[in-house]
Amino acid sequence: MSPIDYQTSHTTITLPGLINISAFVPGITSRESRDLETISKASVAAGFTMISVLPLGIDSSQIDTHTLHAAQTYAQHGAHCDLNFSVAATPTNSEDIAELAGHVRSLFIPFNHVSGNIGDVGAAATHFDQWPKSKLMVTDAKTTALAALLLLASLYKRKLHVSSVTTAEDIRLISLCKKQGLPITCDVSVYALFFSQAEYPDCLFLPTANDQQVLWDHLSTIDIFAVGCIPYQLAAAKGYATTAEVGIADTLPLLFTAVSEGRLTVPDITARLHDNPKQIFNLPDQDSTSVEITLDRPYVVPASSTWSPLLGRTMQGSLSRVVFGGSTVCLEGKLQAEVPRGQDMSTHMPIVPIEPRGPPSPALPAETLADHAPAHDGVQAPRLEVVPLSINTSATVALPPNSVFKRAHITSVAQYTRADLHQLFTIATDMRQAVERHGVLDVLRGKVLGLVFYEPSTRTSLSFDAAMQRLGGRVVSFAEAQSSSKKGESLADTLRTIGCYTDAMVLRHPDAESMATATKFSPVPIINGGNGAEEHPTQAFLDMYTIREVQGTINKLHITFVGDLRYGRTVHSLLQLLAHYSVTVRLVAPARLQLPAKLRADLQRRGQLEAESEHLTDEILAKTDVLYCTRVQKERFANEAEYESVKDGVRVDNRTLRAAKASISIMHPLPRNRELDEEVDFDQRAVYFDQVCFPV
Ligand code: NCD
Repeated sequence: MSPIDYQTSHTTITLPGLINISAFVPGITSRESRDLETISKASVAAGFTMISVLPLGIDSSQIDTHTLHAAQTYAQHGAHCDLNFSVAATPTNSEDIAELAGHVRSLFIPFNHVSGNIGDVGAAATHFDQWPKSKLMVTDAKTTALAALLLLASLYKRKLHVSSVTTAEDIRLISLCKKQGLPITCDVSVYALFFSQAEYPDCLFLPTANDQQVLWDHLSTIDIFAVGCIPYQLAAAKGYATTAEVGIADTLPLLFTAVSEGRLTVPDITARLHDNPKQIFNLPDQDSTSVEITLDRPYVVPASSTWSPLLGRTMQGSLSRVVFGGSTVCLEGKLQAEVPRGQDMSTHMPIVPIEPRGPPSPALPAETLADHAPAHDGVQAPRLEVVPLSINTSATVALPPNSVFKRAHITSVAQYTRADLHQLFTIATDMRQAVERHGVLDVLRGKVLGLVFYEPSTRTSLSFDAAMQRLGGRVVSFAEAQSSSKKGESLADTLRTIGCYTDAMVLRHPDAESMATATKFSPVPIINGGNGAEEHPTQAFLDMYTIREVQGTINKLHITFVGDLRYGRTVHSLLQLLAHYSVTVRLVAPARLQLPAKLRADLQRRGQLEAESEHLTDEILAKTDVLYCTRVQKERFANEAEYESVKDGVRVDNRTLRAAKASISIMHPLPRNRELDEEVDFDQRAVYFDQVCFPV
């Protein structure tokens, strides 16, 4: 018999910071609402150091830049836990919302939310076309709608996370999909595991007693436990005050009481509140963050200002400490720090280790999740390990394996669809954020890019050079003046030679035909850095990216092109890309510098050409959202006199801009001459130096 007849110490366990992947914020899109603050405080006090905010509130949703902005602005001022955002699908926003993919973690397709439901599987299907494959799709669809979405996910070969599963039928279907190896994952609201229609007969959003039993029987199918919207719905249905934080503090007591009853284990909880959410939602690690839970100390749930169905019940598992970013922010359920420390992690990428020695590891492709997501019931995927940043870093930024940009020549913008552009912008944003955080990545370690410029260049050549260095690659440069082309070597031979030393080449050449020669003879992919007066695709990608960044969207904009529209290759490429959007175009150029007939006819055929003028009139400026200025391309003129006669045809200065909108963006691919006065540089609406900095 043990001499110890009582024990005063309790078992305390330490878990990593917990993740709630379904935080319901009733006033999500309202600038006046304090709900996000309330929820971030309640979350950290309940052990959740990271929350994924549901994009749908009580009666409004995050469905575009405007509605996403309120929450993002709040997050910038500081939340009490880390958070990340997603956007909601509507029947009509599939194209526009895909452009926001780079700013959020996932797309939510709502079928059973309290408001904003998409209602129609056909409308949901358009999102499978548009939403980038590298970003997660989430749905709360049930029964037949769920079956249809699972089929779509399988046809499109993409991951789908099913949120808030409540019925026996749905969990069985998901289990079946997983057994077939489909990358389907799911979560169940903790309330749905503990409350049912048996106790609340009028609450049809809860599982029946039988459903609940089947959910427990399929515990191995459930990847994630979440808070979700059910606690709020239950409070509302029972006529209690529906405060934003309802249900959050009940999560750990419910789960740890189940541990004390032998229904769950601690690893079951850690997997579903940390490991799997992190992996499935591709969330970054939270440094020096943990929660301490006292296991064997029963306590009675006291009354509080927030309604709880647990009031007066004896529970186990009290939260003794929350450490967030190295500081104790919560002790015995009381928030210690009033200063918010949380960040918007919507675009933070997990860091994966690169072996310090030996052959370089490839950058983890964007399709990483498919490889790592649990493929079968109960089989846990390998976890990404986190390494200190002092070791070489690599972010999960890479194109999907079937991307049109992969191992292909990039000669003309005509090669690309709108979906391709979305993919490019998403990866560009991911890389940009990763570079901002880590300086240099390992994505292109071991790769060499050839810079082959037969015409002068500052931005294009240096931006490729800098991009290679930032992504961990190297460049070799070809200086025409010192090259064998001076000994009469042909372009084909030069490219064949440089192709032996490199993995890809950027070519700038005065002849429009240079691309045909290059793609015929080059052994490696060619990127067109400008071919005569024809095209400049990468500048046009960058211009599109800039417009999206500064104006929020491209659709419905009025864009005015001014200057040398005849020879300006950046204009030619950008106009073709705008074909994918609903924009209105105005052309301003001296008679001899007008747009080539073919491009003009294309604009007219698409119904995009609104006006043409030789002068930048107040009337045109007053309607313009983006003013795209260009230099008169002296090098393309057959004789100097002709250039002299048109070189000052159109000028933009502060006086010209008096009639412009306050929200206009003034762009220029640079270099500039006299067409854009330096005094405009001080105008806040001038974005041409930002245009240089946005990476593509
Ligand atoms: C342009 C070009 O070379 O086509 N500049 C650039 O690449 N950023 C525009 C010009 O030369 O006027």
